[in-house]
Amino acid sequence: MTATDTQFAQHLSTQRVPAEERAAILADPGFGNFFTDHTAIVDFRTDEAGVGGWRDARLEPYGPIALDPAAAVLHYGQEIFEGMKAYRHADGSIWTFRADANAARLNRSAIRLALPQLPEELFLESLRQLVAADQDWIPSGDGESLYLRPFMIATEAFLGVRPAREVSYRVIASPAGNYFGGEVKPVDIWVSRNYARAGRGGTGAAKAGGNYASSLAAQLEAEAHGCKQVLFLDQFNDNAVEELGGMNVFFVYRDGSMVTPALSGTILEGVTRSSVIQLGRDRGAEVTERTITLDEWRTGVESGEITEVFACGTAAVITPIGRLRDGDEFIGAENAQPGEVTMAIRSQLLGIQTGAVEDTHGWLTRLV
Ligand code: COI
Repeated sequence: MTATDTQFAQHLSTQRVPAEERAAILADPGFGNFFTDHTAIVDFRTDEAGVGGWRDARLEPYGPIALDPAAAVLHYGQEIFEGMKAYRHADGSIWTFRADANAARLNRSAIRLALPQLPEELFLESLRQLVAADQDWIPSGDGESLYLRPFMIATEAFLGVRPAREVSYRVIASPAGNYFGGEVKPVDIWVSRNYARAGRGGTGAAKAGGNYASSLAAQLEAEAHGCKQVLFLDQFNDNAVEELGGMNVFFVYRDGSMVTPALSGTILEGVTRSSVIQLGRDRGAEVTERTITLDEWRTGVESGEITEVFACGTAAVITPIGRLRDGDEFIGAENAQPGEVTMAIRSQLLGIQTGAVEDTHGWLTRLV
């Protein structure tokens, strides 16, 4: 196929999850537990002349991937992914949010991980194909959606360390409720002092599986200390706040202004992050991307200058942060309630995504 040939062969499942079972799943999907009936796939190969191209676009029944044990992804972690969601609107149409930003970020990640770039039309069509086939899997509760996980893996069987010449791009989908389970409530965060997420020149700005693998030891520490997520700092820059294990962070100040850590090459450029910056400005708030240190977080909360802190991401949507735990020290109040600005931005964002609030920025793309 050529780069712009977006015809997907249809190999539809003959063993879809029965409607009753699917309804039971959709009643309480949680996050990342269940998967729909199909997967969209496009493969990439490099020919003898060294020319690479995307080919064999297809929709297949969801199921295990047959990989050669020598596949590069299994040894050198050459993998990238995206996180997106599909929302059903009141008229039955299905939409996704800022797909162009995800397509662009996938390709920035591809460049960093020496994977081939995927044409945006192919990316969009893969989402359309999968969501059209599995549209009965979209849950309808507050804050619920169909989570889409596009990803790209190096499939070539070769143990030399060089970019793989065979790659597979796939999309899977998973009905999703609140990432942290249950109702939206403030989560406590653990400050990672033993581990860093990313360093200058590293892969921190890419959405690469390896970044998340390297966050897990810190995440285990967080859970052992009663916290839900881990905060990474730049210890070589005055303990500047970077991001959480899987989400960006925002601070709301007493005067209504908002701050989020500036993109420094080590922080993921979250699509929700950039949307929150815009929504904050739409509310008339001054929103600044700058360095904010752990000390400023501590003194700001203690003096009442910082009134709310929240996390954001596609999976997390907007989640209020309760206490920050740094060793035996706690910053913030126990049993904190979700902040007013946090919840107002959350409901504005969800409103746009679900069609209840006007999409003045043209962020939505119709899938079905
Ligand atoms: C997302 O928010 O979509 C993410 O990818 C973060 C995490 C679930 C890995």
